[in-house]
Amino acid sequence: MEAFEGAWTPLVLLAGIVLVAFLVREIAPEKRHHVRRAAVLFGLYVAVQAASMVAAQLSTGRAPRVLHVIAQILEAFSVVNLLAISIFDLALPAVKIRVVSITSDLAVGISYAIATIGILGSAGMDLSSMVATSAVVSGIIALSLQATLGNILGGIALHLDGSIHVGDWVQLTNGRQGKVKAIRWRHTVLETRDWDTIVVPNASLLASEIIILGKREGQPVVQHRMSLNFGVDHRFPPQKVIETVNAALRASPFEGIAAEPPPHCLLHDLAKDGRDSFGYYLVRYWLIDIDRDDLANSRVRTRVISALERAGIPLARPETTVFLARDAEIGKERRAAHGVERRLNAIASLELFDRLPTEQQRILADHLRYAPFNAGEVIMRAGEKAEWMYILVSGKVEIRTGASNGDAGRVVATLEGPTFFGEMGLMTGEPRSADVVAATEAETYLLHRTGFELVILPHPEIAQQVSETLARRRVGLLAAREGLDEDAKKVRQASEQERILGRIKEFFGLDLQG
Ligand code: CMP
Repeated sequence: MEAFEGAWTPLVLLAGIVLVAFLVREIAPEKRHHVRRAAVLFGLYVAVQAASMVAAQLSTGRAPRVLHVIAQILEAFSVVNLLAISIFDLALPAVKIRVVSITSDLAVGISYAIATIGILGSAGMDLSSMVATSAVVSGIIALSLQATLGNILGGIALHLDGSIHVGDWVQLTNGRQGKVKAIRWRHTVLETRDWDTIVVPNASLLASEIIILGKREGQPVVQHRMSLNFGVDHRFPPQKVIETVNAALRASPFEGIAAEPPPHCLLHDLAKDGRDSFGYYLVRYWLIDIDRDDLANSRVRTRVISALERAGIPLARPETTVFLARDAEIGKERRAAHGVERRLNAIASLELFDRLPTEQQRILADHLRYAPFNAGEVIMRAGEKAEWMYILVSGKVEIRTGASNGDAGRVVATLEGPTFFGEMGLMTGEPRSADVVAATEAETYLLHRTGFELVILPHPEIAQQVSETLARRRVGLLAAREGLDEDAKKVRQASEQERILGRIKEFFGLDLQG
């Protein structure tokens, strides 16, 4: 009977290993080395067990018994390994419980010790002398391996108190930042944004002050506050600077940046050293994607610069640096680049104005204001009242309808420069009919009603020309909203054109025949 039972054990173990190997290959292939360890132990167990049986046939001394005890220990180790794989590599991950490697290593180690002591005890060995010997040996080892033990205990402490987790972003005392990849027995592995790996001994990690970025106890969200400085001359009212930047920062969400608390701008400091004639502003925002801080920082910077440029607020340059002359030259070049020539080209690029006499084109050009937008920025929202239009010189914008909280709406049309948009508001005084969002970097010029009036009054035929485009765009919007078919669109085109022309005439007080 005993021989019968003994023959079954290796078979059951073998079946267990095969099953676990299959599951690990399917579910957690990165843990294959654990299966290999179990298989090696099982192989050793089978070999030693066979050797003990052969020895039992050949001799009656101590050898068969010793071999049998070793085989039992190996058998127990195989079982412990199989259980550890099933629990730590398969079952716990399946219910989304992540356990770090030290925990499973510790559990396996303690189980080995218990199994060994149990088997040796039941084989009749004197455990008290073994414990005494091992205490002396442990003392000697502990003294010689003090540093290593410090790290190991540090690793265990880090696991037990749960202050650092895999995936956390931490900053070390030397200022370097990294994401925790693994907490091992002796050291903790951090991966930096530069694709480097920092190996920090656990003891020194525990002994020093580290910052866990973007985390607060008991709060599930990760958000790390960032700030960006810029200076603006005191000639520009701080309230206007703050409002301009806040409006741009909040117009549409940034990827990787928290919507709550919203990004905001504040006046941080006044003139420093009594020399600077500008205010120091700060933009605060909260990163939720700490991995990609540079991209988010760059997006915020470009949006701030564009918003200030649109509002005609230049960034301050320190007055006393050697870069002053060079900066002034660069400034001059930039201004020249956006000068009359470019504005005239923008006017002439539109069919709407290309037949106007040069003198009238120049009047329009004099009234243009440069207004760049970054990809993703909301240029206007449906329902807003605004009496200006945009000349899109380069880039693409999307015309969207049906946007509501959190929903960006449906794209009705995509316009690519050179073209214009926002003309409905300018020419009829009606609220904006759709959202317009920059799909790429978009260079635009803003033309206000006061400038446009100077040209449309002596050239009322512009109204007639533009009413067709306006009606076509309006019908496009209606078709998207109401699902009009081709016939219905044609009917609406005629009636809308007439209505719009009437609105333009009324708005500008035009006297048009027909
Ligand atoms: P406005 O109504 O002032 O503001 C939204 C702008 O989107 C509108 O002027 C047009 O310039 C533009 N727009 C609206 N509908 C369309 C469309 N169907 N095709 C192209 N542009 C459109």
